Amino acid sequence: MTSPLDHITDHRIIPVVVIDDAATAATLGDALVDGGLPLAEITFRTSAAPDTISTLADRGDLIVGAGTITSVSDVDAAVQAGASFLVSPGLSQAVVERAAEHNILLIPGAVTATEVQRAVEWGVRTIKFFPAETSGGIAAIRALSAPFPAVSFIPTGGVTAMNLADYLALPSVVAVGGSWMVERSLIATRNVNAMTQRTTDALRIVRAYEKENAA
Ligand code: 3PG
Repeated sequence: MTSPLDHITDHRIIPVVVIDDAATAATLGDALVDGGLPLAEITFRTSAAPDTISTLADRGDLIVGAGTITSVSDVDAAVQAGASFLVSPGLSQAVVERAAEHNILLIPGAVTATEVQRAVEWGVRTIKFFPAETSGGIAAIRALSAPFPAVSFIPTGGVTAMNLADYLALPSVVAVGGSWMVERSLIATRNVNAMTQRTTDALRIVRAYEKENAA
């Protein structure tokens, strides 16, 4: 069976979603599936997150994770809603431990050597490098990968179609996260065409990059 992490590393992009109304979840799901990226991180920044996760998870054609997980109760709520993986902006031992109790993948945030080392001590191998662009971006990830060769990074925060390929070029970067394909306003206005187009465009960049590097 393909694990959530395999899905993430296969697709190489996690669409990060802030959704205001769970009634728009179906449109969001359609756009991602039509765009060829059946994967989403629904952030726990709005009260619509749990219902959105349930709606998307019930479709069966999308891998749905929960983001902005900052507490043990968030972990429990996300698991209860049907999330397949969890993402945190930072590093909390309580959150790491609770996710382990649920046996669910947690990708916590870290940007310094101390944070990465602590995460590794707690058994984490895949880290969200967040906020990527303001935390040193590509140069910082490259520098951190030297002492931590077994760590994989998912840079998020300021990643767009413009710098996506540059991040993916780093061997330690297994995927990136970003909201640009599924901007909050596009979801709210049910702009399925724009979301599908941005998703398709992002995947085209990934495929072009992969083709170039396989040659
Ligand atoms: C996140 O929570 O991962 C970020 O807010 C996404 O960052 P972006 O909006 O710059 O893509």
